[in-house]
Amino acid sequence: MEKEKVLNYAHSHEKEFLADLNSFLEIPSISTQSENTQDIQKAAEWLANRLKRIPMEHVQILPTAGHPVVYADYLHAPEKAPIVLIYGHYDVQPADPLELWQTGPFKPTVRDDSLFARGASDMKGQIAACLYAIESLLSQGSLPVNVKFILEGEEEIGSPNLAPFIESHKELLSSTFALNPDTGMIASDIPTIVYGLRGLAYFELRVFGPAHDLHSGVFGGIIHNPATSLCEIIAGMHDKDNRVNLPGFYDKVRPISAEEKMELSRLPLNDEYYLKQTGSPMIWNEKGYTSTESAGARPTMDVHGLLSGFTGEGSKTVIPAQAMAKISFRLVPDQDPEEVHHQLIQYLKKNAPPSIRWEVIPMGHGPACIADRKYPAVMALYKAMQSVWGKDPVYKREGGSVPIVSDMQELLHIDSVLTGFGLPDDNIHAPNEKLDLPTWYHGIDTLIHFFFNL
Ligand code: BES
Ligand code: MN
Repeated sequence: MEKEKVLNYAHSHEKEFLADLNSFLEIPSISTQSENTQDIQKAAEWLANRLKRIPMEHVQILPTAGHPVVYADYLHAPEKAPIVLIYGHYDVQPADPLELWQTGPFKPTVRDDSLFARGASDMKGQIAACLYAIESLLSQGSLPVNVKFILEGEEEIGSPNLAPFIESHKELLSSTFALNPDTGMIASDIPTIVYGLRGLAYFELRVFGPAHDLHSGVFGGIIHNPATSLCEIIAGMHDKDNRVNLPGFYDKVRPISAEEKMELSRLPLNDEYYLKQTGSPMIWNEKGYTSTESAGARPTMDVHGLLSGFTGEGSKTVIPAQAMAKISFRLVPDQDPEEVHHQLIQYLKKNAPPSIRWEVIPMGHGPACIADRKYPAVMALYKAMQSVWGKDPVYKREGGSVPIVSDMQELLHIDSVLTGFGLPDDNIHAPNEKLDLPTWYHGIDTLIHFFFNL
């Protein structure tokens, strides 16, 4: 059987695949740092070369107002076969704090069954799994489906130029559905299909006090400290039930149906699981919901960074002139990110004291999405996972965000099949990011089955 030959090719090339992925991971394609602009270009070129070698056709590095998009296609499948638009991002998060990495973030290293490097799980490893699945298929002659790749370099900064790119390349990108491997699994032995993602509204909140830093002995007690004020403003954004305290924040939140609550409760996720994953002393979530519900199906607010005053070694008595916080809200259907922006402004107008000035800078946003679980392509993935893991996959709503999914729905009228072979303890966005190699090889097999099933 042809499928067996394809799988055999994949199994006998595991070493080559790993070595190849390493050369991709060595490129520090950090999208948010301008000093890495050349590395972004290098990663795009790495992909273009690899796509040509597979061989895919019409391989192009297409410019945008920011980092380039890599496109390629292979459109020779039998008539009526679907066109799968494979999405990926070749950019990665910054690697700091560097001193916490056991081996360099851009020196891919295997320890036990894990490959450690920035981007190994999120998501160069996931893109590579797609490349090697397709390489394996083409090694035996042809692809059972049509494929187009759209690989961007700006996901980790909120994909600011991808929607305009899609808008101006609608024809080129027209497809039956998208395959988006930028999510993950619950555990290595629990094949997982993701059917929802949270949205995101991200802001920088700046608070200004005196015109310059002041001596806290000379002026303390008569001038409101911007750091204190910012802390109060932020603390007020949650109420005693750990709910987000912006006016109207929950008005449009789609309730979790009784049926979905039941399904979520059956997932192998509970407080203990989350405590183990995080090493935190206890669960802190919205009152009235389980941790599983809170982590994917309820909206939240988080502080990502705080900056004010003196944070160096030793002590310095100062009233800082300003304070800044990076904050974001994770959103669920049917919240509107623009409305959340407005709610934040309303909250500040009402709650920020007149003793300071404030400013909000929107840093990008996208709505949540939820997919049809019975969609034929999702069923093809379901069966593929069954074949590889020998058991039924579970359905999960993911708490992370991939804003482009809703843009594709809106602009190309296509749904996304969300998958990926990362694990919750992969340390994505953190030091010692890793990819579990046995799961990754399973992932390549799954994709091969998936393309056949389609
Ligand atoms: N791959 C992640 C999203 C993700 C994380 C999905 C965990 C499933 C499980 C993606 O690269 C990411 O980090 N997205 C950002 C979006 C933001 C920068 C607009 C996120 O969720 O913070
Ligand atoms: Mn990420």
